[in-house]
Amino acid sequence: MSILKGKKGIVFGALNEASIAWKVAELCAKEGAEIVLTNAPVSARVGQTAELAEKLNAPLNYADVTKMEDLETLVSESMDKLGGKLDFVLHSVGMSLNVRKKKPYTDLNYDWMHTSMDISAMSFHRLMQTLYKADAMNEWGSILGLSYIAAQRTFPDYNEMAEAKSLLESIARSFGYHYGKAKNVRVNTISQSPTKTTAGSGVGGFDAFFNYADKMSPLGNASAEACAEYCVSLFSDYTRMVTMQNLYHDGGFSNTGISMDLMDSFSDEALGK
Ligand SMILES: NC(=O)c1ccc[n+]([C@@H]2O[C@H](COP(=O)([O-])OP(=O)(O)OC[C@H]3O[C@@H](n4cnc5c(N)ncnc54)[C@H](O)[C@@H]3O)[C@@H](O)[C@H]2O)c1
Repeated sequence: MSILKGKKGIVFGALNEASIAWKVAELCAKEGAEIVLTNAPVSARVGQTAELAEKLNAPLNYADVTKMEDLETLVSESMDKLGGKLDFVLHSVGMSLNVRKKKPYTDLNYDWMHTSMDISAMSFHRLMQTLYKADAMNEWGSILGLSYIAAQRTFPDYNEMAEAKSLLESIARSFGYHYGKAKNVRVNTISQSPTKTTAGSGVGGFDAFFNYADKMSPLGNASAEACAEYCVSLFSDYTRMVTMQNLYHDGGFSNTGISMDLMDSFSDEALGK
């Protein structure tokens, strides 16, 4: 069964084979969708998006999510290339300048923070406003962003990205209301487990982060492939009434107080007390 047969969409953020968006793009194509791939112009130098475009026979339009005109061109050219309005869009974009430049949370550079919020969160609004004004989405379409549980709880090394993800999730709720009323378009965020990607690995102490979450989650960490499956289900017609949600895709991490695996490592015996 091809659950996206006849559907058209745009996939942002497939930088390399490890990217969550890479797996989503592959699965969308496998499930019968036609897609346009997009990424930041600078990614042409450092990423492999063009290889994926060739492999999937998908058009590739570079666009910087901080630039309104880039998004307007992307949306109108995508509709031209796909021959109609869109059924789904994946916003799989995130970048923190303060994290990249190793600034601690208590010594943030605010110009960089501005840029981080712009790329990682405001761009979700900018994208949806562009789609909305161009009337680019079909009725019952689906728009997804990717988030992380640091939006709700403190993970010290996640730094300013915690604020970016809180804003991203809030935008999903607020725009989800307006898009739902106007066009029956649904808007959600998926709160994904730590995943070994370029963006993920940029967070300080990522290996500890990853292993801790894996031991806390009864099902273990959700992989990028599993995230792609969840994304595709949310693009499909089987989830038409799901909107304005932040959906945890984390193997049960978010509702686990402590796992037996971690309990064992904190016994007096394990601690040598
Ligand atoms: N990896 C994780 O542990 C994890 C966990 C939860 C959520 N997420 C989120 O998943 C999403 C995808 O990240 P990923 O882990 O696949 O890493 P990734 O590095 O493969 O993807 C991030 C993408 O953002 C793109 N990007 C950055 N600046 C841009 C700009 N100005 N314009 C357009 N695109 C731009 C990059 O080129 C890249 O393709 C991000 O929102 C990230 O925060 C990741």
